[in-house]
Amino acid sequence: MKKRIPENFIIGAGSSAWQTEGWKGKKEGQDSYLDTWYKNEKQVWHEGYGPGVATNFYERYQEDVDLMKEIGLTHFRTSINWSRFFIDYETLEVDEDYAAYIDRFVDSLIKAGVTPMLCLEHYELPTYLQDKYDGWSSKKVVALFTQYAEIVFDRYADRVKYWFTFNEPVVIQTRTYLDAIRYPHEQDTKKWMQWNYHKVLATAKVVEIYHRKNYDGQIGIVLNPEVTYPRSSSEADKKAAEMYDLFFNRIYLDPLVKGSYPEELFPLLKKHGIQFDYTKEEIDSIAHNTVDYLGINLYYPNRVKAPSYQWNEQTPFHPAYYYDHFELPGRKMNKSRGWEIYPQMMVDFGMRIKNDYENIPWIVTENGMGIEDEERFMDSNGVVQDDYRIEFISEHLNCLIEVTEAGSNCKGYMLWAFTDCVSPMNAFKNRYGLVRIDLNNNRDRSLKKSAFWYKNLIESRTFEV
Ligand code: BG6
Repeated sequence: MKKRIPENFIIGAGSSAWQTEGWKGKKEGQDSYLDTWYKNEKQVWHEGYGPGVATNFYERYQEDVDLMKEIGLTHFRTSINWSRFFIDYETLEVDEDYAAYIDRFVDSLIKAGVTPMLCLEHYELPTYLQDKYDGWSSKKVVALFTQYAEIVFDRYADRVKYWFTFNEPVVIQTRTYLDAIRYPHEQDTKKWMQWNYHKVLATAKVVEIYHRKNYDGQIGIVLNPEVTYPRSSSEADKKAAEMYDLFFNRIYLDPLVKGSYPEELFPLLKKHGIQFDYTKEEIDSIAHNTVDYLGINLYYPNRVKAPSYQWNEQTPFHPAYYYDHFELPGRKMNKSRGWEIYPQMMVDFGMRIKNDYENIPWIVTENGMGIEDEERFMDSNGVVQDDYRIEFISEHLNCLIEVTEAGSNCKGYMLWAFTDCVSPMNAFKNRYGLVRIDLNNNRDRSLKKSAFWYKNLIESRTFEV
């Protein structure tokens, strides 16, 4: 069956600064949180490849822009690397070399007819701010981020009309302070909550500036809500799903879209001894500065059940007090990444936005398929035959269009990723791109089968399902 893409529905692709740029031109002291993680944890590099060269987008962006034009992409999302934007993070002396590079690639995108969408932080917190202020634990970092945003808008907002404050703001502190898999390897739920709260506050402050100074465009945030399904319709399982949703989804969606935190959240945290720092003025600022639109990253569904283990009074509080993860028997999987494939989540999430979140405009900023050892699918002409990716995109796009036609205010679909790129957890192990990066051959680019398919989809505005 042929499916038609609605008029004006954006079809694009994305990446991020840190995952593509490489370290060429990076000055001493300009490390980001993830640079430091990669420097300290050599095992996360993939066969010696990592962020050092990445895809060398810094020097080779023009080739990528040419390929975007060839494929017909109308929109491309990436980030500005906060850790490289300044020579001094306190005086906010801009690194003019880096800023000029942003100018060049933004201009080149526009010239090619590709609309740029920029995010201010895609895991690129400067290590300096992490070390000096304990990162997002500090209100000083909220203030510095707000100033950074204003400087960036003053330079680029005349040409860039789509902005996001953060990409997946919940992730870093969840890995660090809930899962404790990153330094300092200590669980600290209070700090986790403080970071979440400060990122919401920072978004409100940036939205306030963006609206007050009347830049011509839209300001939003990229979230990764996990569409959460209970194992069964039992009250206990449903409660587990509700609690997961509260701690990981509503903690951002509610304040950023509706202007207020879920009523039950702060008392619940207090009950568990999690008393973080907030003021009435800040809560007011959050109430008055909600986002214009949402970027939504959706890869896999989340399934939970009632918790099976006993917590004792001495255990420090963790949201998993209320849920346990659950694996659906017989589920369809992307085995490389260990993620379930369930396109219906697009429909369920779209209806949620329509019914619970004022039908705010939203766009899928990430969805895609990371495949390990993808070279094995290369044909004799050197083209990766990624039919699995084509199937994955068709199924998800089909559901997304279905929910858009049912009235959810979705504005488009951006595939992750335009080219293969470095993943925060395992470098180039899983390949996501429409465009292959040849690691053994100077990071040369070549189109995969999915890129030709995407080109046809964009040209014909239809695809087969
Ligand atoms: C998203 C991130 O969570 O998932 C990207 O915004 C990331 O930065 C993508 O690359 C895919 O996940 P991973 O861990 O396989 O790279």
